[in-house]
Order: sequence, then C-alpha cells, then structure tokens
Amino acid sequence: MIKPETIDKIFDSARIEEVVGDFVTLKRRGVNMLGLCPFHNEKTPSFTVSPAKGIFKCFGCGKGGNSVNFIMEHEHFTYPEALKYLANKYSIEIEEEEPTPEQKEAMDEKESLFNLTAFAQKHFEETMHNTEEGKAVGLSYFKERDFTTETIKKFGLGYSLNSWDDFTSKALENAYSKELLEKSSLVRTKDQKTYDTFRGRVTFPIHNLSGRVLGFGARILTQDKTKPKYINTAESEIYHKGKVLYGLYFAKSAIVKEDNCYLTEGYTDVISLHQAGIENVIASSGTSLTIDQIKLIRRYTENITLLFDGDPAGIKAAFRGIDMILEEGMNVKIVLFPEGEDPDSYARNYRPIEVKEFIEGNARDFLTFKTSLLLDETQNDPIKKAALIKEIALSISRIPEPIARALYVQKSSDLLQIDENLLMAEVNKQRRNRSRELTPDPSATQQQEWVTPESIPFEQTPAKGSSPVNYQEKEIIRSLLLYPSKEISFAVLDENNQEVSQEILVADYLINDIVNDDIIFENNLYQKIFNEIKDARDKDMMLDEQYFFSHQDPEISKIAIDMLTSPYLLSNQWEDKHKIYVKKEEDDVKKNVVEILYAFKLRKLEKIIFENKEMLKLELSEDEMLMKIEKVRNLENIKSLLGRELSRIIIQ
Ligand code: CTP
Ligand code: MN
Repeated sequence: MIKPETIDKIFDSARIEEVVGDFVTLKRRGVNMLGLCPFHNEKTPSFTVSPAKGIFKCFGCGKGGNSVNFIMEHEHFTYPEALKYLANKYSIEIEEEEPTPEQKEAMDEKESLFNLTAFAQKHFEETMHNTEEGKAVGLSYFKERDFTTETIKKFGLGYSLNSWDDFTSKALENAYSKELLEKSSLVRTKDQKTYDTFRGRVTFPIHNLSGRVLGFGARILTQDKTKPKYINTAESEIYHKGKVLYGLYFAKSAIVKEDNCYLTEGYTDVISLHQAGIENVIASSGTSLTIDQIKLIRRYTENITLLFDGDPAGIKAAFRGIDMILEEGMNVKIVLFPEGEDPDSYARNYRPIEVKEFIEGNARDFLTFKTSLLLDETQNDPIKKAALIKEIALSISRIPEPIARALYVQKSSDLLQIDENLLMAEVNKQRRNRSRELTPDPSATQQQEWVTPESIPFEQTPAKGSSPVNYQEKEIIRSLLLYPSKEISFAVLDENNQEVSQEILVADYLINDIVNDDIIFENNLYQKIFNEIKDARDKDMMLDEQYFFSHQDPEISKIAIDMLTSPYLLSNQWEDKHKIYVKKEEDDVKKNVVEILYAFKLRKLEKIIFENKEMLKLELSEDEMLMKIEKVRNLENIKSLLGRELSRIIIQ
C-alpha cells in the first residue's frame, strides 16, 4: 500500500504537459496545448491539454483525465503501477506501509531476479555489438535475416559467447550470488559444473508490460539437429511462460489503436512484421496459447487474428486457439500462410504493402475457415460430413453469448446446407455435455438432465442497461461540480407574511433538499462525490473543480473531468466554448437546477411507487393491503404535483 502522503506528493509534482509530452507531441495553443490523440486515429489534432487545470481531454474520442488517468489509460497500468511510474519520473520516493518479513523476502528475491535479468540483457547486447565473436557470429546472423540496426536495438537482441562461463563470471564479479544465477536459469549446473545456459546463441529478451526484462528465448546458430532450436528461460519468480506474450510491450498501443491483435507463433514473426510496419503483433512463444494469455490480450482488444503456418501443425494449433478464444467471448479470425512460409519469411519475401494486403485479404472468420478446410474432403461422404457438422457445432458451442451463438448457427446452416434447428440442437447438446464435464459431481449431473439448454450453468445473463434514474443523478452531480457557489433566489414569506427573496447557494439548495428527503444515489461513485461535497459544506467549505480533478480516487477524477468538459465536444477551442456554454447555462442556473432536482425526485418517486405496487402482488392481509393502496395513492398524488411543477418550470 502506497501512503496517501506519497500519493499527494505525486499529484503535486506531476505536470500534465510533461507526463503527456513523453508520448504526444504538444504545441501551445493559447493557454492550452494541442496534439494528436494517442487513443484514436486522427489527422488533425483535437487532443487538448490544460496545464492550468492539470487535465487532458480529447474532443475527438471524448477521453479525458488527469496525469494518473493518462498513464493508466495509455500504458494500461493499474492505479498503483501508474503512481509508481510517476514517482519514478519525478524521483519521488515511494513510501509504503511496511510489508511483512515474508513479503519482504519474496519481494527482494523478485527484485534481485529482475536486476540480474536486466544485467544479463545488457551483457548479451554489449557482447554482440562490442566483441569480435559477437559481431562476426551474432550480429551478422541477424543482419543476414534482414533485421535492421534499429530493429535489433529496439528489441534488445544480443548474443551469448560460445564459452562455458563468460556470463557466469561477469555476473559473479558483479556480486550476483551463484544461487540467484541458478534460480534465474541463466546458468545451469550439471555434474557439479556450472555453465552459461545460452552460450553460442542469439538472445531475444522477453519484456513485461512495463518494459522490464523477465527472461529470454535463445536461438541456436548451427544446423545441429540434436540440440533444440530455441532454449527459453525456465519458470521462475518473475517468469511464467503461460502468462507472458512476446512483444506485447511493443505492441500494446498499436493493438488498442487498431482494435485488433495479430497472434503469431514465433519471436522472429513478431520482429519481422514490426519491421514491415505492422506493430499490433505478438507471439505466444515457447508455449501453446493459454487462457491467461488470451485474458491478457483482452485488456487491449476483443479481436484476435491468428497468423499461423499452413502446415498441419499450424492448422491444429489454429483449431485449438479458435475454441479457446471463442470461449472467452472474443472474436477470432485466421490467416494461414502459404505452405512453407511463416509471417517472418513472408515479410522478408514481400514488400510491406503486400504483407498488409495478404493478411487483410486472407483473414477469415472461424466458421468459413473451419468449413472450407473440412468441406473439401467431406463432399459426398455423409459420415464425414456429420463429423464436420459436429466439429463446427463444437466451436459454436464455446461462444458464451447466446445471440452471437444464434447468429453463427444461422450462418453455418447456410454454409453447410443443414437445417438450422438441427444445428442448434447439436450446439446445445455440446454445451450440455461440457457442463457435465465441468461438474463431475454425480448429483449435479443428475440434476442437469432436466435443465433446459438455455439455463445451463455457464450461461451469461445479459448485461443490465443503465437505470433511467442514472441520467438524473448524473445531472445533479454535474450541477454540484459545475456551479456549486452560484447564488439563486427564491421568494419566501417572512414573519410578517411579507414576500421577500432569499438567496441560497446551488450546493446548499441541492444538498438540503436531497438530505431532507433521505435520497440515496444508486451510483456509488456519485454518492461518494455527493458526500464529500456535503461534508465540506457542513464545515462551511467549498470543494472546487480542481479538488476533484486531482482526486486520489482515479474513478472520481475521471468522472469530474468527463462531466466538466464533455458538453463542449464541438470545437477544439476549448476555453472559449467552455465559457460560452457555461455562460449560457449560468444565465438559467435557477431554472436548470430546480428542473434537475424535480426530475430526479420524480424518477425516485416513480421507482418507489413501482416497488410498492409490486408488493401489492404479494399475499397481504386486508389491512396491509389497504395501507399499501393508500400509500401508493399518496405517492401518486405527490408525483402528479411534482410532475405539474416540473412542466411549469420547463415551459417557463
Ligand atoms: N520454440 C521454442 N522451442 C523450440 C522451438 C520453437 O520455444 N525448440 C518456439 C519459439 O518461440 C519459436 C516458436 O516456437 O519462435 C516457433 O518455432 P519455429 O517456427 O520453429 O521457429 P521460428 O520462430 O520460425 O524461428 P526461425 O525463423 O528462426 O526458424
Ligand atoms: Mn521462421
């Protein structure tokens, strides 16, 4: 846990223009700065940074936030990761609540593994660029594969000398313990002799999401078939091969931008495609695709395109990948490369534009892919065709979303020329079968016999839409943020029954009324914001927009920034528009605020009435029944009063 004081320090130090400036070229435009939005593709800049307010806002895609929000969004960091990033940038020492001794030991070991791996990466890189053997063997190998100097640098490629202990001795000299060297699997021991694991191989560092090196893949340079082509770092505290994706660190922004991820089989595929200008590409190297890896991709996009070899092994891998991706509810397409080619060789044999065209022109959805592959061999063979239909039904049955499933059933019934209902029945059967597999408990299996296909356990309920009251709640919070200190006046009667006008602040007017009526916000974050403003007012303080813009809760700061900037999407002359809009709104503040409050109460009331009417359906005693009916009638009365008042305000 990072201490709140440290978080304050980070918020105070992080200058939005500097934080964003590391990723976006900004030009001054009046009091603001302008650049091309990193979150969507645009040719004319609509991405605005306000140094005075400490926030950014894109008028193209609507994204906005403070420095921490920006780093979270751009680097796909969690909140603590973003704080650490900024602390590092501004040399702020992170103070954390003291971890337990065990946690500490585990952390230290992790941290020393990270350090050693970084040391190894540098060592291999320097060895390749600065030693005779490195240049003659390692570097020339990469050059022969047409990797440019720039590419080699970018991916941190290196070479490990063909000696038993070059790396081991350098690491020991640098005070890394023998024990740690073995833990990292950079050094291995056999018959009490230690040796460099990657000796005589070129090295491909594998990075985590923030760019730290976790481990390596290392390729042999000879044709020696008795040795493995690649050796990879073994599982360790920091390297879990099923949970990392090669190249994701370099690909993540491109994946978000393209809203698609190309998944290849190897290190060199990733590197060559990058060099050809296709950057949304990664590899599940050294392992077949895992669910964890798919979930990792999902943080960036819902769409995966598999780029696999057209050989039987590649097809088999594709089949497996398809089903796993479908099961995660994501979309999958497949591109098979011509026999004997992989993305790397294709990128070397063709020009970048041809590679792009090939991939785009050959991407097929899983259904077309599977059908076309299997249909050829099944023509006129009913038994084979039945097997094919089962195979397709199996894939479709993995899709968690019922509507998507139905659509695919429809499409494949056309493709396969088979009755739609029959196919749907088969899909449902597969789902039932699998749910039995998932629940080996015999009693559970029995129960499922009578369960309808649509209610089996892993069925997802459709997402709930936002409630109608959400809009009103939002408008209340927006008024509280936008003009809390504005005075509005109401006519009241004084002790002599004389009509006098009474001034009240917007914040106080709204807060008093809502608190009086015991109204609770359905949206937790809105309630939090409301409470903070109310607590401040209780102490006669007023929280300004700046307070919320740099709020420690990233969800709250984002809401505040969204609310206070979003109506001005029309132009990038932000300040002016902002002023004009608010000016117009301010002229009518009283009308707006009262209208919003009444509409809010009306919605709440409708809800209470609905709930009470629902209760009338229950079996109640006659007394209870009469009481409820009376209550509903009263509520209806208030509602029509409120409604009349509201329409009076609106037409005024
Ligand atoms: N791989 C591995 N261990 C092996 C062979 C392969 O970990 N013994 C992994 C590597 O990540 C490799 C990927 O599987 O990149 C694909 O293997 P392959 O197609 O054989 O290698 P390429 O990436 O095509 O490498 P190259 O072009 O250098 O032959
Ligand atoms: Mn290859």
